[in-house]
Amino acid sequence: MTLDRAPLFAALPRRHLELLASLARRRVFQRGDTIFRHGDIGSSLYFIESGRVKVVVTSEQGEEVLLAVLGPGEVFGELSVFDGMPRSATVIALEDLTTLALERSAFQEYIRREPDIALHLLAVLSRRIRTSDTMIEDCAFYDVPGRLAKKLLDLAEQHGKPTPEGMEINLRLTQRELAGMVAASRESVNKHLAYFKVKGLVGVHRGHLVIRKAEELARRAR
Ligand code: CMP
Repeated sequence: MTLDRAPLFAALPRRHLELLASLARRRVFQRGDTIFRHGDIGSSLYFIESGRVKVVVTSEQGEEVLLAVLGPGEVFGELSVFDGMPRSATVIALEDLTTLALERSAFQEYIRREPDIALHLLAVLSRRIRTSDTMIEDCAFYDVPGRLAKKLLDLAEQHGKPTPEGMEINLRLTQRELAGMVAASRESVNKHLAYFKVKGLVGVHRGHLVIRKAEELARRAR
């Protein structure tokens, strides 16, 4: 996907993209590369041209919580550029990745010349805060199978590919990552996922989870 067809940029005038391209530096990463780590000092933000990244935080024991998967047209690294604090999470390339990296001073220049971009970034931040609020709400009000069912439906909506078997989640997720996403232990997620599979709600195809009975899963998520 080219940048001008990506969601954030599709709504922006063409001149924004040309200005961005003139101020930014193209940086390319390979699948598995760490772009930066939680706690690093950093002063660049990145617009994704192609490929996807995962945004994670890890415990001292190496347990990973997946905060988000971001794709073409999305931005990461904006928090440290806005507030000058260390990186709030680790960002890793899930696929070969091409980005446009913008240093803080270039970003300030971008905002001065095209103030609309700041409004777009505020919309991105608002969406992220809403997602975090939903995560907190889910932890408070749903049990683990409920959170798992809800998360699987969310993932199918964001990364789903329709197949004859059902909606395939186009992400390779370990049970540890899935557990991190619903704030539960791997053992507990393993147990409830196995139950969903036995009941035919969920299946696996080429290492990807497939939602076979979305309505039943949605009832479980209530
Ligand atoms: P920064 O703190 O500079 O570096 C880590 C980046 O991860 C952060 O900026 C955001 O771009 C991104 N990030 C952190 N938390 C979330 C989240 N909950 N959802 C999506 N992206 C996030």
